[in-house]
Amino acid sequence: MTETASLIAEATRTALDEARAAATLADLREVRVRALGRKAPMSRVRAQMGSLSEDERREIGRLLNEARGMIESALAAREGELAAREQEETLARDRIDVSAPGRRRDVGHPHPLTLMADRIVDIFIGMGFRVAEGPEVETDWYNFQALNIPPDHPARSMQDTMHVEGTDLLMRTHTSPVQVRAMQAQDPPIYVVVPGRVYRRDPFDATHSPVFQQIEGLAVDKGLSFADLKGTLAAFAREMFGPRQRVRFRPSYFQFTEPSAEVDVLCMNCEGAGCSACGRSGWIEIMGAGSVHPNVLKAVGWDPEVWSGFAFGLGVERVAMRALGVRDIRWFYENDQRFLAGFHA
Ligand code: DAH
Repeated sequence: MTETASLIAEATRTALDEARAAATLADLREVRVRALGRKAPMSRVRAQMGSLSEDERREIGRLLNEARGMIESALAAREGELAAREQEETLARDRIDVSAPGRRRDVGHPHPLTLMADRIVDIFIGMGFRVAEGPEVETDWYNFQALNIPPDHPARSMQDTMHVEGTDLLMRTHTSPVQVRAMQAQDPPIYVVVPGRVYRRDPFDATHSPVFQQIEGLAVDKGLSFADLKGTLAAFAREMFGPRQRVRFRPSYFQFTEPSAEVDVLCMNCEGAGCSACGRSGWIEIMGAGSVHPNVLKAVGWDPEVWSGFAFGLGVERVAMRALGVRDIRWFYENDQRFLAGFHA
């Protein structure tokens, strides 16, 4: 009897000591199992109570209940302390320092060529043109024949063509075929600009790329003349490069225009004085242009006696290189973030 009582007292002391010493909630759960679980000394005492006398049973039962109560409240007290401490630690660990400097996130932006093309197109939209688009894979008829370039014409070699293997299709060598598609899609008059990619069997070096971008323009109406072309492009150049910008027309030859010209603007670098960027001429060529050839109008069934117009094809990279001071066309296509990041909207 006294032996059992001191066993209970000893087990209680151990449990209380362990509860107080438990360092974590997990430790505390183990203390509870050791003190009150099925294999705990006090559980064994309770299991053997059947062999005791009535009086002994009542006494031991009281001692066991008392001990259990003390242990439960010690466990609960310690649990409260540990839970509070763990929460404090979590809060301290997860605290947000609102005064810490922010981490910068890079935000994407359109490619410099896209920005440039948008700017150019916007200027023409301001003059009453609308945007048209066409496929990058074309037929020979649209890319050449409808533009007054018959099969086997030597002019085709000016635009070394990429053919689509196993078909009679090709990658368009210019945006001019969209002139034809746009005219087929509506009745005259027409005022369109066509931004888009074009493809040529060209080397990839500082001034050439096998893929590059053009913006085509086409205006067909009653009574349009070469003077309207000059006025339109001069207005464009002033908008694009500044109010004092001048344009120069040099006679040239394209099959789909007559007369034809190549159009120069004053070099942005030296403003006409002559420097290494413009080959000492003071001028930079940015496009081909001319009055629409009657045969092109005939190809879409428009009467050249009634309708006339002008067209132009501008190189986006050329304008972008001069306007942004970029010396190598490849920089536009290598997608080096250090380069691209320099050109925001
Ligand atoms: N398509 C020509 C080229 O890629 C550029 C061009 C010249 C377009 C004269 C035109 C034009 O519309 O009238 O070289």
